[in-house]
Amino acid sequence: MPFLVAEQRGAVLGYAIAHWAADEAEILNVGVAPAYRRQGVGRALVERMLAALHDHGARVVYLEVRESNVIARRLYESLGFTEVARRARYYRRPVEDAVILRAAIPAGQTGQASAKL
Ligand SMILES: CC(C)(COP(=O)(O)OP(=O)(O)OC[C@H]1O[C@@H](n2cnc3c(N)ncnc32)[C@H](O)[C@@H]1OP(=O)(O)O)[C@@H](O)C(=O)NCCC(=O)NCCS
Repeated sequence: MPFLVAEQRGAVLGYAIAHWAADEAEILNVGVAPAYRRQGVGRALVERMLAALHDHGARVVYLEVRESNVIARRLYESLGFTEVARRARYYRRPVEDAVILRAAIPAGQTGQASAKL
């Protein structure tokens, strides 16, 4: 289960967690501390996670996001995720649909490429 933590001088800026089985993977959560948002940390975490999942053999990645979470959806869509399904009323407080996103990991997306981030 890959778990990435973004750190700067001992402070945790954000994290990403996923799991995979055979050639499929799921990103379970991504979060960046409010003070460090909008600086590319979330994008770097997702890009590195895709590279790590590719290294594990995953070729397709899924995730769920709240319908109203425009910021996260924009991030994922910019990285090639597209909507493939919905789970009606999946979330609580407030009740909301989950949008299921899917991305194929490009062949060039390797751990080596992510080392440049
Ligand atoms: C979603 C989240 C992880 C993004 O982290 P971040 O470090 O701020 O994201 P980045 O700085 O890497 O931005 C990546 C892209 O996200 C989108 N984005 C980020 N902040 C945004 C904002 N305030 N408004 C609109 N789009 C935004 C943009 O598309 C941005 O790309 P751009 O900078 O080229 O425009 C962060 O907002 C967060 O932790 N949110 C709460 C937890 C959450 O919703 N997690 C996702 C659960 S599925």
